[in-house]
Amino acid sequence: MSRVLARTALSHYLNIPPEEVNFKRTPLGKPSLDPPCHIEFNLSNTSKLAVCIISASGPVGIDIEPLGRGGEIMEIADIFFSGTEREELATLDPRSQPERALSLWTLKEAFLKAKGLGIYSEAEKIAFLYRGTGRPGLAASPDIEPMPERWHFKNIDFMDHRIALAATTPFQASSVRFVALKPPVAMPAASEQPSIL
Ligand SMILES: CC(C)(COP(=O)(O)OP(=O)(O)OC[C@H]1O[C@@H](n2cnc3c(N)ncnc32)[C@H](O)[C@@H]1OP(=O)(O)O)[C@@H](O)C(=O)NCCC(=O)NCCS
Repeated sequence: MSRVLARTALSHYLNIPPEEVNFKRTPLGKPSLDPPCHIEFNLSNTSKLAVCIISASGPVGIDIEPLGRGGEIMEIADIFFSGTEREELATLDPRSQPERALSLWTLKEAFLKAKGLGIYSEAEKIAFLYRGTGRPGLAASPDIEPMPERWHFKNIDFMDHRIALAATTPFQASSVRFVALKPPVAMPAASEQPSIL
């Protein structure tokens, strides 16, 4: 379903029919347009929802997970989260920790996917810290990202799922669209063309 969503949305921005949108993949699996152009995108899906982020101004990444996965993620916090993330997690009320773990997981995946890296090999080299602000800030080893401050992140909850977005340009509320795709896939009407989701 995520590929149908991507093909449909990208065809709008490329102004070509969906069947003429071509893709290639990096060795680590990140899809991109072929031939390359200024439009970048990324995909994520669960058994119920598919999401796509599209940008004409730099790399983007997206992740979606069911809201109920927080407890399961807490169980692997020791191998997936960095030391500083675990320290911040431990300062929270235990009842709030699964919620934070879910945000951290999705943010890390969205960022690493924007960079086209592997989630399992690089997760410990980055950290999302809130420092009491309520907003996640990225800290990263320089080999992963020398300018972490250039990145923007957003978490959105939708239909019992948490979505994380990562991009090098700020998000605008008007740039998020939810569209229902039902086969046969039709082009979205002009008023509901997806620009971020
Ligand atoms: C990319 C990755 C994070 C996917 O995680 P996931 O939660 O299972 O899946 P999601 O639904 O969020 O995302 C899947 C989509 O991400 C995209 N994707 C795959 N690899 C990607 C990468 N390296 N970077 C960015 N996007 C990638 C693809 O579009 C894929 O969907 P598709 O195969 O249907 O086209 C994970 O597979 C990964 O780390 N891959 C890198 C390669 C790697 O390290 N492999 C060893 C795994 S043990």
